[in-house]
Amino acid sequence: RKYQRKKMLIGAIDQGTSSSRFLVFEDNGDLVASHQIEVRQLFPHPGWVEMDPIELINTVTECIDMTCEKLRNFGISPSEIQSVGIANQRETTVVWDRDSGQPLCNAIVWLDTRTSQLAQEYIDKTDTKSKDSFKSVAGLPIHPYFSALKLRWLLDNVPAVRECRERGSLMFGTVDSWLMFKLTGVHCTDVTNASRTLLFDLATRSWSTELCNFFQIPTNILPEIRSSAEIYGHFIEGPLEGTPIAGCLGDQQAALVGHGCWSLGDAKTTYGTGTFMLCNTGEKAIVSKNGLLTTVAFQLGSESPMCFALEGSGSIGGNVVRFLRDNFKFIKEASEMEGICRTVEDTDGVFFVPCFTGLYTPQWDPTARGIIVGLTQCTTIAHICLAALRAVAFQCTEMLEAIEHDMENTTKINTLKADGGMTANTLFNELQAEIAGRKIETPRNTEISAWGAAIAAAIGARLISIADFGTRQAKFARFEPKGDSLVREVEMARWKDAVRRAQNWQK
Ligand code: G3P
Repeated sequence: RKYQRKKMLIGAIDQGTSSSRFLVFEDNGDLVASHQIEVRQLFPHPGWVEMDPIELINTVTECIDMTCEKLRNFGISPSEIQSVGIANQRETTVVWDRDSGQPLCNAIVWLDTRTSQLAQEYIDKTDTKSKDSFKSVAGLPIHPYFSALKLRWLLDNVPAVRECRERGSLMFGTVDSWLMFKLTGVHCTDVTNASRTLLFDLATRSWSTELCNFFQIPTNILPEIRSSAEIYGHFIEGPLEGTPIAGCLGDQQAALVGHGCWSLGDAKTTYGTGTFMLCNTGEKAIVSKNGLLTTVAFQLGSESPMCFALEGSGSIGGNVVRFLRDNFKFIKEASEMEGICRTVEDTDGVFFVPCFTGLYTPQWDPTARGIIVGLTQCTTIAHICLAALRAVAFQCTEMLEAIEHDMENTTKINTLKADGGMTANTLFNELQAEIAGRKIETPRNTEISAWGAAIAAAIGARLISIADFGTRQAKFARFEPKGDSLVREVEMARWKDAVRRAQNWQK
């Protein structure tokens, strides 16, 4: 069929923990064509999570090829795509040889906990022996989640990495840098991704000499830090050859932009592999007192101001649905979850804390491990599936409360903008509204991270201004909170009790 296009076309790469995607949007947010390929997570040991960097780039280029083919079938030439943005899984650490362009080993994924012990050793080296020693510099605790310790581990444990460093051709990057290098030949990252490494100084907006010295990271292997919206380079080959890449954001920050959370106090939550809630704090970097992270929200142009966010990061999200599908075989497809869960009234007292690789906000306990409590002879698969959905909603509610405390209750998040795979499940959205006691809004365009990257790409290529996007309101579905606040408090207390039981498991 012929596609009647009147608007400009913008592309977005969304490379996540579960899949790679390429999407083409019109500048009003309408999706024209897309392609998605699931990516493998490798678990060589309990607690270890790796991905193959070659698979990451190959699935991205295959998605681009397939989407361009779909465009051609609509009578559109891929050369009409005016700019491309990248949204990516953050923190995941890739090392490669600049000369060969080849990775030196598998990427260590953000979820990986192999550096738990190393993290403790580094905490012990600080003056105050506190995981929060560098929170005022980087906004982050010393924890395996962030890139610094993963990179340290690779430098210490992989001979090929050490040799490459000695040859002087070692390069480090998060997934954005790796893709950018392969697609354009440029070694750079953006401020949002840099702010997830535990090597970035939020005040100077550059790599921190103090942190690089502390973790003994050679600065010559780090990518150049750029804003989230500018022309970084052009596609070297393929159907988009010559097209600029002009937007780059960590996927959670991209979702914040995609939701239009431009103003102080605007908040969103994304249910991806994990769950991530970000609240815009404007040009002020607030250091959290309640276990949240301080992170760069976006900087849309090298001359534009930098905007910050408070972030609640949850290790529990869509990965529990994948676990129920792949490990327990309770379902064949994620889409079966809603039907199964609707067969029961409640969980019959079952609580599931699916923290397979530790707990993040607000506990930051890498030793926590998943538990299911409250099983009786009457427990069924449906009860456990429902308990899994409720776990994600409970964790999200804890983040919401932490954000409101850190904002000193000047910001009340009455309506939470939500996106990600799990929001396709209406029952889950209802549960989230009920457990949080807030309205939930899910947008018509569910590909919000990709849309955020596309917005950055359009701004970065100077096709459109921030103001043009700021006035557009996406259409959404709304879920109202039901239920009693007393019941809510009791249930929340029971969840926190279950979480306490999951903690310190590996100590
Ligand atoms: O911080 C990790 C996050 O960026 C991963 O996002 O969508 O792959 O779960 P996702």
